Amino acid sequence: MAEESIRVGPNDRGPRPSAPEGFVTVAKTSDVPEGAIKYVDVGGVPVALCRVGGELFAVGNLCTHDGGPLSGGSLEDHAIECPRHGARFDVRDGHVVCLPAAAPIPSYAVRVEHDQIQVKVR
Ligand code: FES
Repeated sequence: MAEESIRVGPNDRGPRPSAPEGFVTVAKTSDVPEGAIKYVDVGGVPVALCRVGGELFAVGNLCTHDGGPLSGGSLEDHAIECPRHGARFDVRDGHVVCLPAAAPIPSYAVRVEHDQIQVKVR
């Protein structure tokens, strides 16, 4: 019987050398209202900012199934849904909530300084 290989998405390649270290300002708090998803590029790392229950989360923007842009999807409670084939991930830690994705997306530390959203990708 042939062994099945697990398909991993474009997020499975570790931090990029060009990615900035430490917290980086990426948006204003007003840019991410409740229930919204906003795409930001953090030194070449694609990140989706989400706000749920007043709390901000930062996760990788690329679906691990086939690279769909999660910021083009939808957010329901803490689950972000890929617009391509419907995989869902929990924005609190990136774990898979619904197939077809099998691997989690990265989750990043996020904080607010005054009205500035800051994300740490490495
Ligand atoms: S690319 Fe996201 S579910 Fe297929």
